[in-house]
Amino acid sequence: MTNESNLSSGVDSEVGSRLSYWGRSLSSDASVASYLENARGRINAALDERVSFGEDVPDRLAKAMRHSLLAPGKRLRPTLALIANELCGGDARDVFDACVALEAVHVFTLVHDDLPAMDDDDYRRGVPTCHKEFDEATAILAGDALLALAFEILSSGARDGELAVRLVSTLARAVGVRGTIGGQEDDVLWAETMKSAPGAIDLFGELAKGASATVDVAVENLLNRIHRRKTGALIVASLEMGAISARANARQIEALRQFGAPLGRAFQISDDLLDAIGNEADMGKRVRKDEDAGKLTCVSLFGVEKTKSLLKETADRAREVLTESSHLFDAESLSFKAALLLVELTERRER
Ligand code: IPE
Ligand code: IPE
Ligand code: MG
Ligand code: MG
Ligand code: MG
Repeated sequence: MTNESNLSSGVDSEVGSRLSYWGRSLSSDASVASYLENARGRINAALDERVSFGEDVPDRLAKAMRHSLLAPGKRLRPTLALIANELCGGDARDVFDACVALEAVHVFTLVHDDLPAMDDDDYRRGVPTCHKEFDEATAILAGDALLALAFEILSSGARDGELAVRLVSTLARAVGVRGTIGGQEDDVLWAETMKSAPGAIDLFGELAKGASATVDVAVENLLNRIHRRKTGALIVASLEMGAISARANARQIEALRQFGAPLGRAFQISDDLLDAIGNEADMGKRVRKDEDAGKLTCVSLFGVEKTKSLLKETADRAREVLTESSHLFDAESLSFKAALLLVELTERRER
């Protein structure tokens, strides 16, 4: 009996709890749910192990990094890397550095996103945000240190220099000016401009792109751009880094990137939706904040009902893209099924 079938022998009532980090009421096929829970456990162990510091690191900084990193997140990005690695025939041992680096970068973005100068949030993952538990300066530095640590992990001790450079450059591009950080700038600039000079909004270049573009189209393009950058880029990079770690071929990498784009979009659409209709206890973070903050979200632009249908459409698109590329992977494998389950969880999540 394999490890996987051992893990999948649980009764259905246990399956729901296996997916509890995605929401109270979610359950799924036992073997795939076990696969995801098992992946999450291995990722948590790798995070704990690789982000353990000795006495040569300032104690408060180390505590702040671990406070935010080890708090119970869904581990979506490292899970995607693990799945992509397996789909491309890789050895899981070769992808854990990328998993830890991805989660460290993600948590850097969360810690800074929560700062008073940005979204000003008190709770995250069911615990006080980094600047509330410690202080603002420490939270800024903990975020900085997590970002630097990600690249240290990917580069130091790498056995294959060329592979390490590809991983470093993929992650750097995803988090940088055209990725998460660029998206965060558009996100905060929109809210600021709407508060201070709503008439002056020039849609950050989107209006200038085509003489025929109406304001409505330009705003929708801007929303898509924000989603693609602030959230989509790291999700695409997660799949890509998993594939690179497995030394996947170019067609496999491209197929996974194509899958990541609608998945990332769906993920931020569901985040926007849950801010409007989710609850704080499930989410582990404050809800109903986006409207007061004047954020440009799928809900602010289209309302709750259309957001729900866009979420379904986008998740369907992700499923379609993955299914179309099934000849490149083993479509019967647990990892392929787990990728499909993650689309469903993104669509139905409560957390
Ligand atoms: C939150 O990401 C920030 C967004 C990009 C929407 P997650 O919903 O993946 O947060 P954790 O990692 O589970 O806490
Ligand atoms: C995603 O947007 C932010 C990041 C890229 C970190 P949000 O600001 O909506 O994320 P939450 O709702 O605070 O998790
Ligand atoms: Mg934000
Ligand atoms: Mg936020
Ligand atoms: Mg949000």
